[in-house]
Amino acid sequence: MLSGKHILVGITGGIAAYKSAELVRLLVREGVEVKVLMTETAKRFISPLTMATLSKNPVMIDFFNPENGEWNSHVKLGLWADAYVIAPATANSIGKMAAGIADNLLITTYFSARCPVFVAPAMDMDMYKHQAVMTNMETLQLYGNTLIEAETGELASGLEGKGRMAKPEVIVDCLKSFFDAPFLGKHVLVTAGPTYEKIDPVRFIGNFSSGKMGYAIAETFAQQGAEVLLVSGPVNLPVFHPNIRRVNVVSANEMYEECVRLFPSCDIAVMCAAVADFTPEKIEKNKIKHTNDLTLSLVKTPDIAAELGKIKQNHILAGFALETDNELQNACEKLKTKNLDFIVLNSLNDSGAGFGGDTNKITIIDRDAAVTRFPLKSKKDAAKDIVAYVRKLINNQ
Ligand code: CTP
Repeated sequence: MLSGKHILVGITGGIAAYKSAELVRLLVREGVEVKVLMTETAKRFISPLTMATLSKNPVMIDFFNPENGEWNSHVKLGLWADAYVIAPATANSIGKMAAGIADNLLITTYFSARCPVFVAPAMDMDMYKHQAVMTNMETLQLYGNTLIEAETGELASGLEGKGRMAKPEVIVDCLKSFFDAPFLGKHVLVTAGPTYEKIDPVRFIGNFSSGKMGYAIAETFAQQGAEVLLVSGPVNLPVFHPNIRRVNVVSANEMYEECVRLFPSCDIAVMCAAVADFTPEKIEKNKIKHTNDLTLSLVKTPDIAAELGKIKQNHILAGFALETDNELQNACEKLKTKNLDFIVLNSLNDSGAGFGGDTNKITIIDRDAAVTRFPLKSKKDAAKDIVAYVRKLINNQ
């Protein structure tokens, strides 16, 4: 799927530049025509001769060759490329890309490129989580670039943390799924986050769902070509991918209305939201005063997943089950009663799983009660497993 593609690899000045040699080698092996751009500082970490030999093309560093005046046109390079991968991307280069500072060939080509751009940052952990760098990485994503997140592990400084450039194989996989686009033409509904059930003008019943799992699922489907409708409860998360349309809701009833409206035009639905099971029978018009004891009368909210299970036709419908006890049994029960194709179980007994954090440990159960367990992973990687599972189901249909 990468064979014959034109890919620019931009190498900026960080110790992870040595991994770019492997990245270029893997791309060439896939049949990609690779051209390498480097910054002046990158030359100190890896030699242009190495990169020229591996890419089978001269490496471009300056706008022109002072010896013969030969011109490296950033505009032509930008037009030539089917994709531009900047790996490693230092905090400095990310900052310039976010701010529009074009002071070298590599970054000027970034501004000229019309193709998709993939950015694989690499830096020390404290730099990676600095607010300024995080904001710049977010800005790059808002501009439509794909961020290939750094990994956690031992860093060149000797510290342990997040900042290692993604492995070359991971970067190649990311490019493959972009060009492969297995969900092109598919419409996917994803629910995410909590719902808030109003008690009075200032209070609500809610839960601790952060929305991260659902947003990661939406992002992964979009990266693989799907058009995604993300029906989201109140969360504080950005949406980056242009293929995602977010529909904001607050209460379970609003989420129900939107899902029932949108589901018929979709092929796949993943119900990841932590929907409140009960809502106050009546919302007080005025703020409830604290003078007396209070008994709230609650009524059941509609079961959105179960309703979609009733009206589904050729859809693939998946749900989540967050359990504290009898995990497998409860999840299987939900799978049946809601007429799901599979259910993703996470147990609050597994440390690192469930609400809030950046990791999850999932188990997928299908209609035949076949159980697939996954180890603890980042929510983004767990999302990839879930999306790969949907792909497998579609291929077997
Ligand atoms: N769900 C839903 N609508 C609801 C409640 C849940 O669509 N009103 C969906 C969730 O998004 C999830 C699945 O149903 O995909 C299971 O949710 P969960 O809260 O674990 O189960 P419940 O059916 O609410 O059962 P219980 O709370 O009793 O465990």
